[in-house]
Amino acid sequence: MTTPSRVLITRRIPEPGLVRLRAAGVAIDYVDQDDPPSRAELLARAAGAAGVIAMMSERIDAEFLDAAGPSLRVVANFAVGFDNIDVPACSARGVRATNTPGVLTDATADIAWTLVLAAARHAIVGDRMVRSGQWKGWAPTQLLGLQLAGATLGVVGAGRIGTAVARRGVGFGMRVLYYARRDVPEIEQAAGARRVDLDALLSESDVVSLHLPLTPQTRHLIDAPQLARMKPTAILINTARGPVVNEAAVVEALRKRQIAAAGFDVYENEPKLTPGLAELDNAVLLPHLGSGTVATREKMSLMTAENILAVLAGREPPNPLN
Ligand code: DGY
Repeated sequence: MTTPSRVLITRRIPEPGLVRLRAAGVAIDYVDQDDPPSRAELLARAAGAAGVIAMMSERIDAEFLDAAGPSLRVVANFAVGFDNIDVPACSARGVRATNTPGVLTDATADIAWTLVLAAARHAIVGDRMVRSGQWKGWAPTQLLGLQLAGATLGVVGAGRIGTAVARRGVGFGMRVLYYARRDVPEIEQAAGARRVDLDALLSESDVVSLHLPLTPQTRHLIDAPQLARMKPTAILINTARGPVVNEAAVVEALRKRQIAAAGFDVYENEPKLTPGLAELDNAVLLPHLGSGTVATREKMSLMTAENILAVLAGREPPNPLN
C-alpha cells in the first residue's frame, strides 16, 4: 500500500481547494487558522511534505526547502505575487513553484479604485466625522476633494492589474499615462494610455497607482526624490507590494503635504506600519484586501490545488514559475 502524498496548507483557505485535494485522496496537513503559524511550526510541519500551499507571508527559501526535505515536489503560492519564494532555490532542488495569475485581476483593480475614491473624496475622514458627532451639517467648503473626471491617472506597471485599473480610469473620465519597460498594446487599446518615463508620469499625474511585482529593481522605486516630483495635489496608491515604496518617505511627504494623500493596501513590514502612518488623516489604509472577494479567493484556492495535483501526478502545472 502506498502512503498518500501529504500536502501542507499553511493557513485557512476557502473550501474549493480542500474539496479538490480530498477528492484526489491527498492527505492534508491543515493549519486551520487565519493567523500565520510561527516559523518554527512552519518548518517542522513542512518536513516530509510532498506539496505546500503557501501564503505570500511565508518565506519559501533554502531554509524552508531544506526543512521540507527531498520529499517536496511543489510549492503552490496562494497569490499572484511570488516575492516570498526563492524560485532559483526551488529549481535547484527540483521543486516546482506556482502562483495564481489572472483570477485576482478585477478584485485587485477594484481595491485600487476603492483607495482612489476614498482618498480623493475624504471618505474615511468624512465617515469618522459623521460617526463621532463632529459633523455640523453641509458646508460649501467642507472636505473638498479631487475631481477625477478630466484628471490624469498614472499607472506604474502595465500588466493585467495595471491594465484593469487603467480601464476603470477611462470610466471615470480620466486621461491615462503608463510606465513600463516596453510598449504594452493591451493598456493602450483598453484605456488609450500613453507610455511615458517614470519622471514624466510622476510629475503629470493626479493619481499614481503602483502595479509592479516586488523585485530588487522595484524595491523603493518610489522614494523621496520620486515623491518630490509629484504634484502637491496628487494621490499615491499602492496595491502591489509594500517595499515598492519607501513608507517612511511617504509618511514624511504626507506630513509636509508634499503630496495630498496616499491609499495603501500593502505595507513594507506587514502587518506593522511605519511610525506616523496611522496618525495621518490623508492616508487611507486597508488590510491587504486586494484579492479579497469570495469569488476570487475560491478560485485561488482551487487553482493552488490544481497546481499541486498536476505536479504530484507528474504533469505540468497550469501556473508554473519554474
Ligand atoms: C497576491 O496575490 O499577490 C495578493 O497580494 C494576495 O492578495
